[in-house]
Amino acid sequence: MKKRALITGVNGMDGSHLADLLLEKNYDVYGLERRSSHINRENTKHIEDKVHFITGDMTDKGSLQRALYISNPHEVYNLAAQSFVGSSWQLSEQTTKVNSLGTLYMLESILAHNKEIKFYQASTSEMFGKVVETPQSELTPFYPRSPYAVSKLYAHWITKNFRESYGIFACNGILFNHESERRGIEFVTRKITDGVARIHLGLQDKISLGNLDAERDWGYAPDYVEAMWMMLQQDERYFFDNKVGDFIIATGECHSVRDFLTLAFNEIGIQDWKKHVVKDPRYMRPAEVDVLRGDASKAEEVLGWKSKTSLEEIVRVMVKNDIGLIKREIK
Ligand code: GDD
Repeated sequence: MKKRALITGVNGMDGSHLADLLLEKNYDVYGLERRSSHINRENTKHIEDKVHFITGDMTDKGSLQRALYISNPHEVYNLAAQSFVGSSWQLSEQTTKVNSLGTLYMLESILAHNKEIKFYQASTSEMFGKVVETPQSELTPFYPRSPYAVSKLYAHWITKNFRESYGIFACNGILFNHESERRGIEFVTRKITDGVARIHLGLQDKISLGNLDAERDWGYAPDYVEAMWMMLQQDERYFFDNKVGDFIIATGECHSVRDFLTLAFNEIGIQDWKKHVVKDPRYMRPAEVDVLRGDASKAEEVLGWKSKTSLEEIVRVMVKNDIGLIKREIK
């Protein structure tokens, strides 16, 4: 029998990579997408005829119930979110409604529809915020630093609570930053690779950025969506042992925004990039997360998962892809 999966946020970077993976594994893939006059299926256009798209919204519980009824899934991957930390100060209420209440609505809907559905929640390293220890593991206390991180912390705990209260097979994947050529342009890595590509093609001269000293543990999104899937394939018999349930997914390596700039400019043969980068206070955050580095040893031990792609490779793929995209755009 073919397995059915419902992915919320299917048109996002993670949603589309996960849809690719599940289609390869012969799943029936249902994707929840928001109604809009311009639906953005940039990341899913290559699989548009294979994914069953369902219109819905995380803040509209009825639409989630309907999506469960239509897809009748074995697995639900909750990847929909207001995911841009920087905007969460301006959009704190919307961020909370989508990220926190949306997760609650989905869990309530699963409980009413079919308790056997396995549930994956996109938790985040942002919950560690002002870190209290390094590297961060599943046991590290949280200290969120943005309305985004606070909203995700609610989603994390309500997922855990539904697991403990109702016995739902629900996992939190605490994913550290992960990037790919499908990353939204507002995130720092894609902003840099797009800018570098434009500089290479003579279309612009400078990239405006905020805090260059921030350090992140950057992995490759296609590797990370595999971890999401692996979490839901665990043996049910071991599931309620507290050790199984939530997982850190990270590379264990940490690099600064400056390091990322160096790698990206290297791809176009520029060593001294300083004259191409302008510091712009608009991109500074009211409260910053300075350094994140994850310890994914539990994922390696329990799931057999390990990050495969180096930052150098990620940067190479992203810069190359952006050069190709822009060349086609200006033709
Ligand atoms: N976006 C952005 N734009 N970030 C900048 C800029 C800029 O111009 N200049 C410096 N930065 C710094 C930010 O201040 C931050 O410290 C770091 O670059 C990374 O920013 P983002 O790429 O926006 O990602 P993030 O770390 O805030 O959040 C991402 O990763 C989380 C996982 O830890 C998002 O994908 C979140 O949704 C995800 O939960």
